[in-house]
Amino acid sequence: MPIAHNKFPMSRVEAILHRVGLPLKNVHGGTTSELPIMARIAVTDGMAPAAVAVLEKAGHEVVLGYIEKSDLLSGALDDFDAIIVRSATKLTAEIIEASEGLSIIGRAGVGVDNIDLQAAGSAGIMVINAPNASTQSVVELTIGHLLASVRHIPKSDRSMRQNRWEKKAMKGTELSGKCLGLIGFGRIAQGVAKVATSLGMEIHTYDPYLPPKVAKAQGAYLHKKVDSLFKTCTHISVHCNLTEETHHLVNEKRMKMMPGKKSGIDCGNHIVNCARGGIVDEDALLSALENGTITSAALDVFEFEPVPENSLLIQHENFHGTPHIGAATLEAQDRVGIDIAHEVIIALKGQKPSTLVNSKFLS
Ligand SMILES: NC(=O)c1ccc[n+]([C@@H]2O[C@H](COP(=O)([O-])OP(=O)(O)OC[C@H]3O[C@@H](n4cnc5c(N)ncnc54)[C@H](O)[C@@H]3O)[C@@H](O)[C@H]2O)c1
Repeated sequence: MPIAHNKFPMSRVEAILHRVGLPLKNVHGGTTSELPIMARIAVTDGMAPAAVAVLEKAGHEVVLGYIEKSDLLSGALDDFDAIIVRSATKLTAEIIEASEGLSIIGRAGVGVDNIDLQAAGSAGIMVINAPNASTQSVVELTIGHLLASVRHIPKSDRSMRQNRWEKKAMKGTELSGKCLGLIGFGRIAQGVAKVATSLGMEIHTYDPYLPPKVAKAQGAYLHKKVDSLFKTCTHISVHCNLTEETHHLVNEKRMKMMPGKKSGIDCGNHIVNCARGGIVDEDALLSALENGTITSAALDVFEFEPVPENSLLIQHENFHGTPHIGAATLEAQDRVGIDIAHEVIIALKGQKPSTLVNSKFLS
């Protein structure tokens, strides 16, 4: 039995209802205003020491260490009140079902595709994330990929390592004056838009859930149809979530629509994805690189990670990639740990965390 539950003056379900703001019936008759907060927290995918210190200072016990899937399935989380994961630990419906003591799942990062939100909600488990911590790091990586693409930085480096001096072949284009199409216009895309604007790019976006005034305030042209974005932009950068709607949203048909030139400059067509694998159809992308529809492609995220050894895409000379390192900076890792630690502490106090992501399944 997890420590926090021994000390909670309310049942687990009551605690959850309390946390999501629903009326609370305290069957034990005790006051719920001062909840004891000594909890056991499993941290399975690593965490910055400063963040561990935040949890411990709040009186919680932190147990660091990866837990194998087979152990998770055998109820290894029964003795914990909370678990904090990154992307390596997959919390499937079966694992959640086997984790009877758990009340809180913290995701140190944004994407919660490694957690079954519905199963967690049905089990009365809150899922909390830390969406802001890595924004700046992903913004900078995206701009890095855009610049690396149009100035052939990875390609030049590969060529120089073979003792070649291919000045002519490495002639690039400027980002300035070109149209950048951002798919999704949330936190990261808006950060990319700010930097790209300062580089002289014209900002276009497609985001069907965005209030038009948000795009307007950022000086971005909001397209109603995604095809219209592809017809306008020579540079496309993906910043939406992976959903059924966005799976293979960047596909053969749409890449063929891209104009390849702007203001008389044959700058070609460029694709960057630092959001989630699967939004870009990688087979279509490889064909588009092979037949010249797409001039360069840079991905940080892939349909299968790690990328299979025999991938033809990563071997293509006009492709360069990074191994899902969008959030992998010292600053983001510190920030993400601290952010999730604070949110988990809030939840353990019986308050509603601001980054609760599965409230619709809890209620
Ligand atoms: N590479 C990395 O390591 C890394 C790190 C952090 C975040 N990410 C990913 O980056 C992406 C963006 O993160 P964020 O923090 O900006 O998220 P966000 O929630 O702030 O923005 C996502 C935007 O996508 C929009 N969107 C949803 N469905 C859409 C659709 N069908 N078409 C177009 N837009 C749609 C939403 O309305 C929202 O504005 C996410 O996929 C996230 O998982 C990657």
